Amino acid sequence: MTRLGTPNSPTAVRVMLLGSGELGKEVVIELQRLGCEVIACDRYPDAPGMQVAHRSHVLAMTDAAALRTVVELERPHFIVPEIEAIATDELARIEADGLAVCIPTARAAQLTMNREGIRRLAAEELGLPTSAYAFASTEAELAKAAAEVTGFPCFVKPVMSSSGKGQSYVESPNQIAAAWRYALEGGRVEQPRVIVEGRVDFDFEITQLTVRSMANGVVETSFCAPIGHRQVKGDYVESWQPQPMSAQALAKSRDIAKAVTDSLGGLGLFGVELFVKGDEVWFSEVSPRPHDTGLVTLVTQYQSEFALHARAILGLPTDVTQREPGASAVIYGGMDAKGIAFEGVAEALSVPGADLRLFGKPESFERRRMGVALARAHDIEQARERAREAAAKVRPVAG
Ligand SMILES: Nc1ncnc2c1ncn2[C@@H]1O[C@H](COP(=O)(O)OP(=O)(O)O)[C@@H](O)[C@H]1O
Ligand SMILES: [Mg+2]
Repeated sequence: MTRLGTPNSPTAVRVMLLGSGELGKEVVIELQRLGCEVIACDRYPDAPGMQVAHRSHVLAMTDAAALRTVVELERPHFIVPEIEAIATDELARIEADGLAVCIPTARAAQLTMNREGIRRLAAEELGLPTSAYAFASTEAELAKAAAEVTGFPCFVKPVMSSSGKGQSYVESPNQIAAAWRYALEGGRVEQPRVIVEGRVDFDFEITQLTVRSMANGVVETSFCAPIGHRQVKGDYVESWQPQPMSAQALAKSRDIAKAVTDSLGGLGLFGVELFVKGDEVWFSEVSPRPHDTGLVTLVTQYQSEFALHARAILGLPTDVTQREPGASAVIYGGMDAKGIAFEGVAEALSVPGADLRLFGKPESFERRRMGVALARAHDIEQARERAREAAAKVRPVAG
């Protein structure tokens, strides 16, 4: 039995976002639609989600004391992480003290912020198929692991990193030293540690959005249509839904997604990343929150991944039905500048079936995601073409 309230009144349901980027912004909008009182946090002012929230706080979310202070000040009912780099041990204490419900659970946030936690859970505890892998804390250990466990080519990634940061594709032993150095630069923590993974020679990769929500008093798991995507340097540039795949591969994908999300528990939407080759499926990683490739669901589903997350968090029923095929294409800043403008928006929106999100980030970087073009179509080929065309028409310019 869920009761919603009135923001800024004693009945308010208060939700705090930790991380308020473009994905958080859409979650905030969905929560606002249900009359929640939303508090957006991030490490810089005017983050996208802050611009649509009731209040905001700027803090280092990796700082346990700062996190505790803001939670005690705001007393949210729910804490919703949008990023991985959070003081998750403090989240666990907040949850244990009964201060707030962490979405999906503090343990899920702890396990998924570190590639070692989630990989060992998936491969060693749940026995799911993954790439060959090993962990290393020195360059020598890395060289040995690559030679003996994964072979070449392989991927080297800091265990604490996301969006391709510090990640290298290594084709031969003489590239190990550079990969080690690059991982040290891109990792989030002082203590160096990397995962080395054998390359999975997949046909395509998907995000299996998976929802754990309440239905008639019990937690129910439901699956969105698979999302295909293309990554460049570990960062998504294009996604589409549905990704065609064999019935067997789809069934395996959902079994894997179910096993992982059952184990992480709690309520909310998860983005399960999988590699697919024919009927074979490998688990790659999981976000216990909306996934960037899932931006496409803003135009393809009756309830976007953000609406699904908001509803699931609040204990409400969800509907994962897809409406029509669609695609998304990322719009990069293309320059390092503050307060940039966008030209060509009308032209972009003249592309049939096209839509647009401009995130409102106060500062642009060359490779920073500043917006996304979305497109609906009869099939994914047409949708991808339209999304790319619309994205290309938007021209970031200096203010
Ligand atoms: N073991 C692997 N085999 C093949 N491709 C991989 C492997 N690991 C990573 N990749 C490629 O790099 C992308 C980013 O890797 P991922 O582990 O998802 O890092 P991030 O957490 O930064 O998203 C993947 O989506 C995939 O395209
Ligand atoms: Mg990934």
